[in-house]
Amino acid sequence: MPRKTTFSLFALAILAFAACRQEQPALEVSSPSGKLKVELLLDGKGQPAYLVTYDGKLLVDTSTLGFEFKDASPLAGGMELTGQASSSKNETWEMPWGEQREVVNHYNELAATFQESDELKRTYRIVFRVYDDGLGFRYEFPEQPNLKDVIIMDENTQFQLTGDHTCWWQPGDWDIYEHLYNTARISDIDAFSKRGHPNLAQSFIPENAVNTPVTMKTADGLYLSFHEAALYDYPGMTLKVDNNTFLLQSELVGSDRLKLKAEKTVPFETPWRTMQVSENAGGLIESHLILNLNEPNKLGDVSWFQPTKYVGIWWEMHLGKSSWDMASGRHGATTENARRYIDFAAANNIGGLLVEGWNTGWEHWIGFEDREGVFDFVTPYPDYDLEEVVRYGKEKGVALIMHHETSAAPRTYDQQLDTAFALMQKLGIHAVKTGYVGKIIPKGEYHHGQWMVNHYQRVVETAARYQVAVNAHEPIKDTGIRRTWPNFISREGLRGQEFNAWATDGGNPPEHLPIIAFTRMLAGPIDYTPGIFNIKLDPYKPDNQVNTTLAQQLALYVVIYSPIQMAADLPEFYDNNPALQFIRDVGVNWETSKVLNGEVGDFVTIARQERGTDKWFLGSITDENSRNLAVKLDFLPAGKKYAATLYADGADAHWNDDPVNFTIQKFLVDSATEMELRLAPGGGAAMSLLPATEEDLQSLKAYGE
Ligand code: NOJ
Ligand code: CA
Repeated sequence: MPRKTTFSLFALAILAFAACRQEQPALEVSSPSGKLKVELLLDGKGQPAYLVTYDGKLLVDTSTLGFEFKDASPLAGGMELTGQASSSKNETWEMPWGEQREVVNHYNELAATFQESDELKRTYRIVFRVYDDGLGFRYEFPEQPNLKDVIIMDENTQFQLTGDHTCWWQPGDWDIYEHLYNTARISDIDAFSKRGHPNLAQSFIPENAVNTPVTMKTADGLYLSFHEAALYDYPGMTLKVDNNTFLLQSELVGSDRLKLKAEKTVPFETPWRTMQVSENAGGLIESHLILNLNEPNKLGDVSWFQPTKYVGIWWEMHLGKSSWDMASGRHGATTENARRYIDFAAANNIGGLLVEGWNTGWEHWIGFEDREGVFDFVTPYPDYDLEEVVRYGKEKGVALIMHHETSAAPRTYDQQLDTAFALMQKLGIHAVKTGYVGKIIPKGEYHHGQWMVNHYQRVVETAARYQVAVNAHEPIKDTGIRRTWPNFISREGLRGQEFNAWATDGGNPPEHLPIIAFTRMLAGPIDYTPGIFNIKLDPYKPDNQVNTTLAQQLALYVVIYSPIQMAADLPEFYDNNPALQFIRDVGVNWETSKVLNGEVGDFVTIARQERGTDKWFLGSITDENSRNLAVKLDFLPAGKKYAATLYADGADAHWNDDPVNFTIQKFLVDSATEMELRLAPGGGAAMSLLPATEEDLQSLKAYGE
């Protein structure tokens, strides 16, 4: 062999080695379809980094991964790849209750182990799971000699986006998710402009960051949404925004009390950082990525919780008709009033009653600095006979839903948990609504920090031991843990209906829910409390109103998913209204759900089949623009006739000018029917589809005839 060749081979080897120092060849993992692809590599400084492509197009450019610690050097560059493993999974699992009975969990996994090359040799694994509808990745720290108890000062996970996407975002608030979503390019996101909202009892926005889920649309028409899955014993993640480079970087919620972000002991793993990808907006809603990244059910049979519609001694307080506290002289939670609601629920196929303001302490609820020890969750006001209300409810087939307002004093609640849940168990009450209004005591903790994440988890795990399901208000965001803890049934964690009763900024605008469906709802069930018929809130709130039509209020039972759905208005505003029939009929637990159309912030139509029946329900909502939407009923089983009842906006309906103008039409349909839904500005349409009876077949005409 001539010398020259030998020499050039040697030179090539050196070159390859040099290249290697710069950027090692990437590891790859693709989704089952092959469209979504992740490359994992070490950058020029030896820092783990990843890229994401979809159909060959770059969605996330080189984004580095790492950590900062207190009293220890950061984990950033100087790492080597020391191991890798690939695997796949394709399974189907069943939700005890949910939007869908069977969920397919199909992904390819890549686990790469990185280790520092210097003497500390600290190590972690990055695990990517790539699905057809998105991906998740997390850090896993195994036991090791030079990393034991760590104080995390920040996690530096980057998402280097490749364009100035249109975003539906809300500020990275460490204390509350009750902000409106905003529509803006990444370059225009300004979280600081959202500081100081007059209606928030707590709010802290320290960075130009966004809360998740944050949803985006690229110039190519792809839809992306970033969030997290399986958040345990770790702070919630916000994403800090660089308006110029479109770089999003994890910014964990901290503790000002402890001056840190998280305290951990190895071994541990972080929550999954998630990115949903869809070619149409509806695909984001149909995705089960967040749930799939959670562990299977740890509770086994939870049939003691049954999805339900419920009414509440609740809206009347928000309207100011009555009050939570007894000293006001307008106490809402009286035995007599509870009976009135139970009678109404029993007559209208509604299985639950929430009673707020039932326990002593509400005189010291809002505005008090020292809120420790105010509520004990077992002592009713003297005009409320708890046991009698439970008994009367049982007689009528209406189950009580407990209420625990902690007034953001979680230590008081922690001390009371067993006593409070034991009382519920004794009375056979299986659901509680919790609340955390105000700044967290102790000072310096925030609703979304590690300390509170652990509190919320303790509550849900303790509740499970007493067969209690939890609906948390002012919660930590949902990250799909209902798969593992199916007694975490619903949450607020958004600007709910209540803002329409008292917000000083005009309430929730018509585009609010058409955004929520593609943002907050991707995280999990929402206790939005729909069904307000008295849209203008007369005579109680002359300066406030609901900014939708009545038909949209009906559609929300289908569009906004929750296994507990409130009929939030006062019984007197439902009386004699034929639209109430939809609330009586509509299901709350679903065999399957299909998004028929939608655009983020504009409109969305969803059809759901009730579990255990062959009934279908459809809901469609729009923003401030009227629309005609063509809808095919091809989700219905072929060859079967259905009696459809359509609750639609009337010809001149309008969220502000004529909101209670609606029509009810009945006709026969089948899987070949193509309909046109006409939605008014701020409007909606709701439709029940029940298998046609002999009588229906005789008396009803086909759609359009
Ligand atoms: C805030 C909750 O969101 C609301 O539903 C509840 O009525 C009040 N807190 C009182 O607990
Ligand atoms: Ca709230």
